[in-house]
Amino acid sequence: MEQSSSRNPDLQDLHVGIIMDGNGRWARRQGLARLEGHRAGALAVHRSIAAARSLGVGVLTLFAFSEDNWQRAPGEVATLLELFEDFLREETDWLRAAAIRLSVIGRRDRLPHSLVEAIEHVEELTAAGRAMDLRLAIDYSGRQAILRAAERVGDGSPVTAEEFSRLLAGASHAPAASVNIDLLIRTGGERRLSDLPLWEAAHAELYFTDRMWPDFDASDLALALDDFRRRERRFGRIPELAAT
Ligand code: IPE
Ligand code: IPE
Ligand code: MG
Repeated sequence: MEQSSSRNPDLQDLHVGIIMDGNGRWARRQGLARLEGHRAGALAVHRSIAAARSLGVGVLTLFAFSEDNWQRAPGEVATLLELFEDFLREETDWLRAAAIRLSVIGRRDRLPHSLVEAIEHVEELTAAGRAMDLRLAIDYSGRQAILRAAERVGDGSPVTAEEFSRLLAGASHAPAASVNIDLLIRTGGERRLSDLPLWEAAHAELYFTDRMWPDFDASDLALALDDFRRRERRFGRIPELAAT
């Protein structure tokens, strides 16, 4: 595949975020260990990236591991971190061929060294990708990201939202241009943010589905996008026709 963009003009500026929830319940319902749910979840990650790219989505942010997830059993945490590393190593060539630029957002100082190496490797090899920006959130906390950006504000002088967005992106290893999420999807039936995108979700349209993450596929993403297209985004304004 060529490195040039083949974006759908409709969606190329769209930033879709997904809180990928429900792996454990998916596994339990089938009498499997939670680990099997996470394994199946990794396949759903691949499917969703491919679907988003072929639909022409501009930026896709996948929330994979929150700061609060460190509180899970050590064995589950270790499994998840290993799966992230395997995923990054196995998908690098494909991401590069599909011209998808991957950045991992969140803290890196608590991740295993080998995972940080895998992150840096895939980021470097996919840096030229222009078809879609993919952001994978690992050890991410919306509040922590805001606090770390606030530390960078410095001398107490006024700061604009745009400047703060840049500081936030810098503090989370995120590309600066991709802060605002337009459509935030959460699978697994819960209707909460779990301290994930806070600043980024300020104007996001929210879409909740009961589908467990390992079952999520291209048709679910297409449904969410159809729903999004039918929404009227007002940003606090009164639509002109209604106002007259
Ligand atoms: C999402 O699935 C994966 C992570 C949060 C890392 P869960 O593991 O939260 O699955 P449930 O919510 O227990 O079903
Ligand atoms: C949110 O799921 C975290 C991710 C999907 C990365 P959780 O399962 O950790 O969230 P809670 O515990 O339901 O709030
Ligand atoms: Mg969960």
